[in-house]
Amino acid sequence: MSVLVIGGTGFIGPRLMRRLIERRETVVCMDLNTTPASPYATLPGQATVIRGDVTRFGDVMRAVIEVKPDRLINLAYGLGAGEGNPHQVMRLDVLGMDNCFEAARLGGVKRVVYASSIAVSGQQSHFGDRQVTEDDATYGTSQYAVHKIFNEFQAKKYIKNYAMSITGVRPANVTGPDKVRGSTDHVTLMVDAARGKPVQLPRKGFMRLLIHVEDIAEVFARVLLADTPRHDLYNSGGIPVSLGELADIVREFLPDAQITFEKDGGRDESGNYLVDNSRLCKEFGIEYPPLRTRVLEIINDVRREAGLPLIALR
Ligand SMILES: NC(=O)c1ccc[n+]([C@@H]2O[C@H](COP(=O)([O-])OP(=O)(O)OC[C@H]3O[C@@H](n4cnc5c(N)ncnc54)[C@H](O)[C@@H]3O)[C@@H](O)[C@H]2O)c1
Repeated sequence: MSVLVIGGTGFIGPRLMRRLIERRETVVCMDLNTTPASPYATLPGQATVIRGDVTRFGDVMRAVIEVKPDRLINLAYGLGAGEGNPHQVMRLDVLGMDNCFEAARLGGVKRVVYASSIAVSGQQSHFGDRQVTEDDATYGTSQYAVHKIFNEFQAKKYIKNYAMSITGVRPANVTGPDKVRGSTDHVTLMVDAARGKPVQLPRKGFMRLLIHVEDIAEVFARVLLADTPRHDLYNSGGIPVSLGELADIVREFLPDAQITFEKDGGRDESGNYLVDNSRLCKEFGIEYPPLRTRVLEIINDVRREAGLPLIALR
């Protein structure tokens, strides 16, 4: 089938497109930036990349008319855009997403998938010590979170009013060697240590819910290619870990790593890190590799790229 990936040359997109091509799908990517910068995730040669701006309805509509996709996924977003440019970020996050829904409606695209985020839930303290499900209330207050909450609201409207098939995935804290936007403390910790550089981070007890970029790409591929998913929204879930615990895993592989924290604590101020992803796992057979395995992979990806000796699994 034919798949239109909007915002596909960033962190997650190239890995998703590689998976779609391996499954023999026809992939067209529309992005403002037509060449991914990452040395770790080259675009598969069979993917066609066109330049287009998701905030311009005409660009999205033209892509839908030309590609005639069976599936459309929107990954274009203002990650790590901060709170300083509300108008531009609103256009990208809110208008851009709506443009995708509307163009898909007008173009008769059978299924649409979009990236929401764990950020919609806000702080873990709203939920106590329990896992958050897709049906829980959302408490996110950042501009990013509020935009994602609105995207979910708008998806529900399109589903209700036009009986469209639109599915959201809420990725947790995606990690990988080349992540540069969004939450990056966990990335800095692994990548700098792998390069032999000292790392200092503010809070040792700060919690993250990690999912490797290859794993979230697989989640998106399965949800996107499904004909009739049972739900409109899925938590990716991931592996909860404090930055201090992550540092300990890194030190198992790199005993000389210089990782320090300014302070202990942070757990109580952490964003949502306990998430129930049973909906996704049961329906799509998703299972993540152990965190240690993924940490070692990231360390060795970085070291290979830097020409440093690789670390063996202990
Ligand atoms: N990476 C994470 O940790 C994480 C966590 C939760 C949710 N998500 C969501 O997953 C999605 C993909 O994340 P990512 O990490 O790959 O992001 P990314 O920033 O690496 O990629 C986004 C892509 O969108 C493109 N883009 C930006 N503005 C555009 C525009 N106006 N028109 C067309 N393309 C435009 C960028 O060039 C980039 O290729 C986003 O919606 C993000 O919010 C990511």
